[in-house]
Amino acid sequence: MPSDPTSAHLPFGDQRSAPWYGKDIISVKQFHRGDLQYIFDVAHEMRGMVERVGTFDLLKGKILANLFYEPSTRTSSSFTAAMERLGGSVIPINEVQYSSVTKGETLTDTVRTLECYADVIVLRHPETGSAAKAAEAARKPVINAGDGTGEHPTQALLDIFTIREELGKLDNLTVTMLGDLKYGRTVHSLARLLLNFDDIRLNYVSPEILRMPGDVMEEVKARGVTQAEFTGLDEVLPETDVLYVTRVQKERFEDANAYETVKGAYVIDPVVMKAARHNMIVMHPLPRVGEISMELDSDPRAAYFRQMEYGLYVRMALLAIVLGKA
Ligand code: NCD
Repeated sequence: MPSDPTSAHLPFGDQRSAPWYGKDIISVKQFHRGDLQYIFDVAHEMRGMVERVGTFDLLKGKILANLFYEPSTRTSSSFTAAMERLGGSVIPINEVQYSSVTKGETLTDTVRTLECYADVIVLRHPETGSAAKAAEAARKPVINAGDGTGEHPTQALLDIFTIREELGKLDNLTVTMLGDLKYGRTVHSLARLLLNFDDIRLNYVSPEILRMPGDVMEEVKARGVTQAEFTGLDEVLPETDVLYVTRVQKERFEDANAYETVKGAYVIDPVVMKAARHNMIVMHPLPRVGEISMELDSDPRAAYFRQMEYGLYVRMALLAIVLGKA
């Protein structure tokens, strides 16, 4: 290890010919196993660098436009922290009501505006397909930070990185997704991204009206991965390596009464967890609204707070990669 920690053996440098330089990140379908290995190796190095030096100048002079049309705490602030820890800066547009969006500006015009000032655009938007639309209009890289009920690729990348760091493997896993599998974009991306690994078994536990969408299940089936649906957790919890809990997405229901029938459908607490393995983990993209009790937070299997921190390293890696510095 060199004595100057900022010149450590990182795969960093100016690598504008690298495959991800200047690319958009719209869907997890863009990533194959080799890409994931590369991103996670860079993320792992980012973790080491943050622990050793905190902030360093890999992206000095680069600017990120953080454009959020939907609420966000973790995704928005972790992209900001990621850019600032790499020495870059951020144009935050978290409150689109104070921007020209309120005057009726289209998404594509807003994106074309921001790319005049920034090197990369992170976009969260309520419409499925909006990130692809923005990327089509933009010359600079667009990173999808959640497009309606579609995808949330950077969340899925950090979810898989969490599994790798916590369990030390990505093959031969039983992953149980629980909660709102219909509207939850994180599980749509995660199920697809897990198809890159071997011997994966997917369990979907949800109320009848919140089942995993057919298109995602078709893709899983086409890759020959075992999947099964349940309405209760009891049958599958004992064999689960990763329990991925999600919030019921109140804001996406067309019928408020339907939400009332399924809110609070599942609560994971220490009593429920007695049936789970000792060496499994519980994950959640957060925010939680009652589906994991606070009494579980001190259980070593509760990985959801650590998961947020892994998100910082993965987003640092992604920014460095699309800006040609990793
Ligand atoms: C998720 C999202 O926005 O899709 N949150 C996040 O990015 N960590 C999950 C959610 O809102 O329930």
